[in-house]
Amino acid sequence: MFDIIKLLRPHLRQINSYSSARDEYTGKVGIFLDANENTITTNNFNRYPDPHQHAVKTLIAGIKNVTIDNVFLGNGSDEAIDLLIRAFCEPKNNQNDNQNDNKSDNKNDNKSDNILLMPPTYGMYEVSANINNIAVISVNLTSDFQLDLDNIFKNINANTKMIFICSPNNPSGNLLKREEINLILEKFSGIVVIDEAYADFSSETSFVNELEKYPNLVVLQTLSKAWGLANLRLGMAFASKEIIQILNKIKPPYNINGVTQQLVAESLAQENQKNEMVKQIIFQRSILQEKLKNINFITKIYPSDANFLLVKMDNAQEIFDKLLLEKIIVRNRAKVVLCDNCLRITVGTQEENEKLLLALQNFEK
Ligand SMILES: Cc1ncc(COP(=O)(O)O)c(C=O)c1O
Repeated sequence: MFDIIKLLRPHLRQINSYSSARDEYTGKVGIFLDANENTITTNNFNRYPDPHQHAVKTLIAGIKNVTIDNVFLGNGSDEAIDLLIRAFCEPKNNQNDNQNDNKSDNKNDNKSDNILLMPPTYGMYEVSANINNIAVISVNLTSDFQLDLDNIFKNINANTKMIFICSPNNPSGNLLKREEINLILEKFSGIVVIDEAYADFSSETSFVNELEKYPNLVVLQTLSKAWGLANLRLGMAFASKEIIQILNKIKPPYNINGVTQQLVAESLAQENQKNEMVKQIIFQRSILQEKLKNINFITKIYPSDANFLLVKMDNAQEIFDKLLLEKIIVRNRAKVVLCDNCLRITVGTQEENEKLLLALQNFEK
């Protein structure tokens, strides 16, 4: 039986979360002198926001067809990534590490936990692990950016608490095979985090629908991509009620500001508009894919289920630099494992894509 409390860091089993003024009195009407706010100002920002983001969560739960107890909201999905690691992974013991300086990789240190990542992937999983002093086990994706199941299972050990799977994957853009992800969910006894930041751009159904089947599943999504709200910083984690309770217990009380809550609520009512934008972006992606094929120094355009393309070329650094001179900024991934000579290019507007293509054509020799 999967036991989430056993996975939780022992000291977190007992702690109380901060009880805010808005936890202790939840009525809406009254003279509020309990939160040390400035009650004189007439601006609309003087009151603390809803710490539980009830209105926004209700809308999201409706859209995703889950209950509000399955939804955690973070200051971007980056906050959810950090909180997941902080909740379930016991850091390295620094004193031990100093004594064993040449054993910096602590995979076998039975007091500390690790997470498993599959490069090339989104960089924040490793950064968050590093900040929290959690060891990382890396098992590269295969050359076609799929899961290397044999090596994943070989490298997991008793202290592996969490596996991060990004699908569609950043920076490769492809979906990972669903039946292989299912296998990990079935066989791994820790938490499987599936980051679906780019899911709206793919035709695959979300793992959010699998929450009842897999108690060890956490699905991350974000409003930063398809919804076009990166500036508001709203990320979502979907999981069992028990996992969501843990994240809520350790989050900062007012982690989603009131302006974000309000603007997000307004945007969520416009799901059709989001779907229309996604359609346009997918259309632009297909045109860009076709036209990039004609550029003579481009050797490969990887299939994409996201809003960007990973593109291999003869000399990525040179092209990156030349694009910069044209004030066209793409992401140089050439130094990333399995991404030799690759640039990652976000699908822009038709006009932006045409300018990019024109610039690339001018670089042809
Ligand atoms: C795979 C993936 N996950 C998460 C994020 C971050 O999302 P957020 O803006 O919600 O923090 C990104 C951003 O690029 C991403 O590529």
